[in-house]
Amino acid sequence: MCGIVGYVGKQNAVPVLISGLQSLEYRGYDSAGVAVLEENSIGIRKTKGKVDNLRNLLLNEPVSGNIGIGHTRWATHGAPSDMNAHPHFSNDDSIAVVHNGIIENYQELKDELEKKGYEFYSETDTETVAHLIHYFYKQGNDLLEAVRKTLERIEGSYALGVLCTDYPDQLIAARKESPLIVGLGKGENFIASDIPAILNYTKDAYILGDKELAVIKSDDVKLYDIKGNEIEREVYTYKWDVEAAQKNGYEHFMLKEIYEQPKVVKDNLSKRFSEDGKSIELDGIKLGKKELENINQIYIVACGTAYYAGLIGKYLLERIVRIPVNADVASEFRYKDPLIDEKTLVMVISQSGETADTHSALKLAKSKGARVLGVVNAVGSSIARDADDVLYTLAGFEIAVASTKAFSAQVVAMYLITLHIAQELGKIDEKEFAEIKKAMDNLPSQINDILNKAVLKIRGFVDKYIESKNVFYIGRGLDYVVGMEGSLKLKEIAYLHSEPYAAGELKHGPIALIEEATLVVGVVTQEALFDKTKSNIKEVKARGAKVLAIAMEGNSSIEDVADDVIYIPRTHWMLTSLLANIPQQLFAYYMALGLGEDIDKPRNLAKSVTVE
Ligand code: F6R
Repeated sequence: MCGIVGYVGKQNAVPVLISGLQSLEYRGYDSAGVAVLEENSIGIRKTKGKVDNLRNLLLNEPVSGNIGIGHTRWATHGAPSDMNAHPHFSNDDSIAVVHNGIIENYQELKDELEKKGYEFYSETDTETVAHLIHYFYKQGNDLLEAVRKTLERIEGSYALGVLCTDYPDQLIAARKESPLIVGLGKGENFIASDIPAILNYTKDAYILGDKELAVIKSDDVKLYDIKGNEIEREVYTYKWDVEAAQKNGYEHFMLKEIYEQPKVVKDNLSKRFSEDGKSIELDGIKLGKKELENINQIYIVACGTAYYAGLIGKYLLERIVRIPVNADVASEFRYKDPLIDEKTLVMVISQSGETADTHSALKLAKSKGARVLGVVNAVGSSIARDADDVLYTLAGFEIAVASTKAFSAQVVAMYLITLHIAQELGKIDEKEFAEIKKAMDNLPSQINDILNKAVLKIRGFVDKYIESKNVFYIGRGLDYVVGMEGSLKLKEIAYLHSEPYAAGELKHGPIALIEEATLVVGVVTQEALFDKTKSNIKEVKARGAKVLAIAMEGNSSIEDVADDVIYIPRTHWMLTSLLANIPQQLFAYYMALGLGEDIDKPRNLAKSVTVE
């Protein structure tokens, strides 16, 4: 959370920083600010609200200079306010700092610094960093050394950008557990939390590692470890282009990303089957018969939407491979002393590859000797770097806070991993594999089909449901899991209270909540469970609920009990979740649109949750 950008070069830094911050708003958008090195001083402008507010402030109170740092915030310490917005600066205004992360020992440092006479103006943890750097700088007159010593004192996570009036040709960056890259241009260089911020200028970057620092000048970048030793790093060239970070005519990134799903699924499938289509190739991951026979359980760990993708994996692996699979949200897993050892395969799933809880879960799993397979979208992210093996989900940038295409890519990864393990362990025969492969090949065009047909239907009936205050998603088996994702999407962007329930569980309590006109979304794509779920739908109908059903073509008897039905094309039972989720995404999107919500930047949320 929080986005950082920095510039050193010959252009005016302000437009570069503002456009960078705008592309990073998915990381947080409750306040924003910039610090620019002017003649002999640092010009700081910061304000509560989105980057647009900052842009307006800068129109009235301009600053200009060729070096600057910027920040868009997702509040952790201290409410969103002008004063708590970054950059923060030393008492003599000579040093300015932007920070993403959490300084865990900030109170102790603050007490110490106050005793030394430093005054604090904000409620943030970051202000301690500005004063601490200033303190060490006054001791030795060496900025890099002052930053390095500061890092040795602070506990927690950080991505930092530092400006100092005594160093008018450079900025310093550092990171630990919060992402930061150093973008490499011609006669200009950058720092950024993520590549979209600087994609207009360069695709080349150094990906900073944990506890590493960078001194960035317009024509030179030097990297150091925490001890101050200079280190070498290969340049990483991002393959994404500028359009990937733009809306391309769509009203929202979320809608654009929903419509990118046929391509994302196709990309994931086309790269993962052997030439003859008879086996799966997982980016060279060594999970062959020998390794798999050594594993007696699988543990899947992730957060939010990624966790639901993981649950789909759990259902499939258990049913097809017949291996015990546990699944936990990372924030629980990391503190429960999980039962894992060197015979456990831990699968961590993350779009951003930076989610703090998931990353800590990964480290815990490794410390217990488990082998960790990361299913990650962001190349070079912390989770991708620290996992033993990585399967990239090839979804491209996902900018909308609500995850759509990344989820679909994660679900495809679950299909591929399940099939691969099943094949290696002899749990699936050639005929069944071929049948599933054939069904998978149809998925991209089937998603297209849903997008074309369901969208009209959903737009047509959204008005009917827009007044709903409580929504229930019900289903059995894989349909229950996909309902969890549908329900989360509706909560996140339409701010509607919604809960997923196992359809058979309703009668044990939740059915008491059903009253006249309560909206129930019934997911009934699992044909083996169709009659059972249909009965549960009848039960809610009898109590006055309005029912929107998602069913597979050919099961039109659902129309007897549902008010509206969206059909997905026929597919293999293990693949229905991917298709059933598409109408759920569209439903959440059009409900949020109808309610006038800020779809790409829902309140209180940020895309990449790099704090606990
Ligand atoms: C929901 C959503 C979140 C993320 C979760 C994990 O739409 O996007 O629930 O899925 O924060 O994020 P990653 O996958 O980046 O670890």
